[in-house]
Amino acid sequence: MASLKRKGAILAGGTGTRLMPLTKLINKHLLPVYDRLMVTYPIETLKKTGVTNICIVTGAKDLSDFRRFVGDGSEYEVEIVYRTQTGPNGLADAVYKTADFFGGQKPIIVLGDDIFTYVNFPVAALSDDNAYAAVTKAEGIGIDPRAVAVPEFTQSGDICRVTEKPSNPSSDFMVAGFYIFPNDVFDFIEELKPSSRGELEISDVTSWYAVNCRLKPIYDLEFIADAGSLRSLLEASIWRSKIVSKGSGEV
Ligand code: TTP
Repeated sequence: MASLKRKGAILAGGTGTRLMPLTKLINKHLLPVYDRLMVTYPIETLKKTGVTNICIVTGAKDLSDFRRFVGDGSEYEVEIVYRTQTGPNGLADAVYKTADFFGGQKPIIVLGDDIFTYVNFPVAALSDDNAYAAVTKAEGIGIDPRAVAVPEFTQSGDICRVTEKPSNPSSDFMVAGFYIFPNDVFDFIEELKPSSRGELEISDVTSWYAVNCRLKPIYDLEFIADAGSLRSLLEASIWRSKIVSKGSGEV
């Protein structure tokens, strides 16, 4: 029996408000992080997990730029296809656009502005009925937990709740932008209502799996940055420049 090609998706839509005016003409993920386009980093993250087929989800208006810069993926030794959102309708909306791409496989999802050097997850994550989320210490990398999604853990170490931007964080961990979902995620998103800011929120998706005791943490990773703000884009660029000057071009 031919083995299935491992698939992953990169969410590369959105507005990029925090990077205005840099994002006025160009999609955030096509901006440089030192010597590479931002989208290169999630491509490398997925490749290191064994993914060979990648779906990039972006806004319809940016599709031609992605095709021009990233193309069919041959430069990166992967196969890349595209799906589009009609607008920045939220991360869960972007996930929903990948339903036909994943077919029956469990969706592996990485946010297009998140830089990891690696993410290792258990093989069972690709076949069991649970969702998985990358979890890392927030303060260790200079992030205020009150500005991000914070997981709350049960005594057995599962995640029982995810709170967006909590005023009183229940742990010093944060959820970083790498997820594996069971296939029922698409049914759940179909029923999901937009939040007060008009978006289908990924935190509503992870919270639903958490309260149903189906959200497992992935700890074996190195998270460098969410390069979506001016400060973090600069810091990510400096991080990358140090790697390049050490003579290793690898992330
Ligand atoms: P965010 O950084 O939360 O949103 P944004 O990219 O619009 O930026 P800003 O907050 O500065 O306005 O998005 C996280 C990631 O998810 C980012 O890589 C873009 C992606 N995304 C989508 O693919 N589709 C969407 O509808 C949204 C809102 C984000």
